[in-house]
Amino acid sequence: MTQEEIARLLDKLDPRQKVRLLTGATTWRTADEPAVGLRPMTMSDGPAGVRGESWDERNTSALLPSASAVGAMWDEDLAERLGALLAVEAKAKGVDVVLAPTLNLHRSPLGGRHFECYSEDPELTARTGAALIRGIQAHGVAATAKHYVANDSETDRLTVSVDLDERTLREVYLLPFEAAVRAARVRVVMCGYNAVNGTTLAESPLLARPLKEEWGFDGVLVSDWGAVRSTVPTALAALDLAMPGPESPWDNRLGRAIEDGRVPMAAVDEKVTRLLRLAGRVGALHRSAPTDPAPSPGPVVEPEEPGALLRRAVAAGCVLLGNRGVLPLDPASLTSLAVIGAQAADPRVQGGGSAGVHPRHVSTPLGAFRETLAPTVRVVHAPGPALGAPPFLGGPGCHDPRDGRPGTLLRVLAADGAELYAGHRESGRQIEPPLPPGAHTVEISARLLPAAGGTWTFGVGGFGRMSLTVDGTPLVDGVFPRETDDPAVVHVNPPSQYGEIALTAGRPALVVARRELAEETGRAILVTAAPPRPDRATALAEAVDAARSADAAVVFVGTTQDSESEGHDRTTLALPGDQDALVRAVIAAQPRTVVVVNSGGPVEMPWRTDAPAVLLAWFPGQEAGTGLADVLFGAAEPGGRLPTTWPAILADAPVSATRPVDGVLRYAEGPHIGHRAWLREHRAPAYWFGHGLGYTTWGYESASVTPSTEMADEETAFTVSVRLRNTGGRRGREVVQVYLARPGSAVERPVRWLAGYASVEAAPGETVTAAVRVPHRALHHWSPRERGWLTEPGTYEVHAGPSAGRLPLVASVEIRSTGDGRFLGERFPGH
Ligand code: BGC
Repeated sequence: MTQEEIARLLDKLDPRQKVRLLTGATTWRTADEPAVGLRPMTMSDGPAGVRGESWDERNTSALLPSASAVGAMWDEDLAERLGALLAVEAKAKGVDVVLAPTLNLHRSPLGGRHFECYSEDPELTARTGAALIRGIQAHGVAATAKHYVANDSETDRLTVSVDLDERTLREVYLLPFEAAVRAARVRVVMCGYNAVNGTTLAESPLLARPLKEEWGFDGVLVSDWGAVRSTVPTALAALDLAMPGPESPWDNRLGRAIEDGRVPMAAVDEKVTRLLRLAGRVGALHRSAPTDPAPSPGPVVEPEEPGALLRRAVAAGCVLLGNRGVLPLDPASLTSLAVIGAQAADPRVQGGGSAGVHPRHVSTPLGAFRETLAPTVRVVHAPGPALGAPPFLGGPGCHDPRDGRPGTLLRVLAADGAELYAGHRESGRQIEPPLPPGAHTVEISARLLPAAGGTWTFGVGGFGRMSLTVDGTPLVDGVFPRETDDPAVVHVNPPSQYGEIALTAGRPALVVARRELAEETGRAILVTAAPPRPDRATALAEAVDAARSADAAVVFVGTTQDSESEGHDRTTLALPGDQDALVRAVIAAQPRTVVVVNSGGPVEMPWRTDAPAVLLAWFPGQEAGTGLADVLFGAAEPGGRLPTTWPAILADAPVSATRPVDGVLRYAEGPHIGHRAWLREHRAPAYWFGHGLGYTTWGYESASVTPSTEMADEETAFTVSVRLRNTGGRRGREVVQVYLARPGSAVERPVRWLAGYASVEAAPGETVTAAVRVPHRALHHWSPRERGWLTEPGTYEVHAGPSAGRLPLVASVEIRSTGDGRFLGERFPGH
């Protein structure tokens, strides 16, 4: 749509109609406006899959590996394909705007949304994020770069002020957003809940500059859900759309502020203009093209069959941290395999919070291993000691008390107990139960046939008045006041109250949980049921027996449902429960043991040097099982490289604090996060940024630099040609990384920083050359005095290798004026 067309539409609207457009009509929809042929636009989370408008288990989605796994791929082509898959899902669900990607950084390993972000590194985040955005937008769906900016941890996330210096902000935290706007032309940006340097982002001057005024962002700046908490300051800031609705501080209070001149009409016109532009782009205006795909720099990636793509993605994201010749496991060498750990049968496929979806199906490792190895290899499962988090009601032995089908019964009752709604459900976790008029109480019930006798633990999660009975015996009964405003807690993951009762195996028990609905306590009700815990020693002994009597063992460990989620940060990196003891016992019993780590972010692995092989699977998404089977049994190479440095223990991590002091979280380390911080402090992590093994080995032979004058590409300062040889016995892919250093720089710099990377493939014995482009951007530093980007002339060291901690090749490059004034002391104006 042209500017003139938008202006014509704007002219048709009176101030009241305009203001109405600036707040969502519902939780997920924008308002319509028949006067200009505008239909509502639907927005939906998120980074791991497109949920659609309803959070309901019957509404399923293709589930991607967690963003931390996508960051580990170091593969823009694959990220773009995953973006295309999100676009297909979005279209099928009538979604116009996907609320992804999350472009915040892994500043602290404790960050609650670590799994939802790509990397500790701004460059890797920028390239991966831009690729995903291109993939989404090439199909006429808008992507959302979030959460602008410095929203890297969860503690007090609605109020915290992140205080940091201007250089760090520009060079580290804004960089991925700049790439989203400039390189990928993202159509929506979401501002965070947090403040930066004392000003909450919804009111921040950072919304105007650099985002709109310098980078030329012409899309819609949407608030995070509920982040608009004032009328005039937010309206005067460059924010365009308050979500969710229909209530927001931009209701008739904004109308009044316009009338009395506190907010100029021009500010409102600017917001509506952007909204109409977005509507034109996603096909939400009458007569506009059905969709207007974003211009793509290269050929558009066509969507693939989701199952195959997601299976490939699991292998591409898996990071092989260590391998003493155990992997891949050759099925021909096995007659039996011990598969150990609860996650083998019930993997954690995604993290918690607003990014959650109901996967269309989940391939479990146990199921996929059995399928791959049948009929020649006997697969024995030993779950090991029970893990903390009780499962949701609805597993085996659980039936709808009304129709007897496996699952639960959801009812909504009026104040007098009259039934307003009744429906069969699969589980006890209902985030958005239907609310007919007069709804007063939500109830979940099930008839449970206990497989095991003993003490069962039941829980009901939510706020307000709740009760839970088992065969009429009250286990929970009370009023549990809401103790936070955080929407991820209130609406998605409210705390549970628990009670215990002894049940007899095989004797059915009726479980009934109720929650009264009250103002501002959300709709969610979560009902859990945990069987009696097997004795720890017996469970360990069973696992050891299984491992000892098999030809090899695969032991799964990981975080639990509660530990990695939006809404709170972690307090420890230790694996919950007895998992360390389990790994130690299995390793001692079976020399051919592979440990598979199922977590979205770093965990401590005190046994890591004793483990014959350690494979990091992240939260692998719906194809967890098939993808891991490919890797473990050698059909695919583990393609991932760590997107974040993993400490041996939390106390080693140079930057870890997420707890604000007096409301302020100071990024005192400046630009030195991740591997940069470890290098600066001369500390050795457990595994460096960039580390990851394949199934072959590589010899790094030489690196040489080709200056840009010989290159056609405007953005590239120089290219580093890295020659390497596949020295192993099988074809493989290697991610070649290039870091720069500037000893003796006049400005403070990281010891080394990632400047570029490229992947190569080669057959055994073959030599290949990776051409790693280093963009001008990698040489720039932000000058607060000049308010612009500068390039410091002089000699830069160029280091190449397979990780931030192993860089066997060194070259150098002289940065000086090329005659056309592009480098030497050049000020790259920020506008
Ligand atoms: C999260 C966003 C999400 C939004 C809508 C917020 O709490 O921070 O990432 O897109 O909710 O679910």
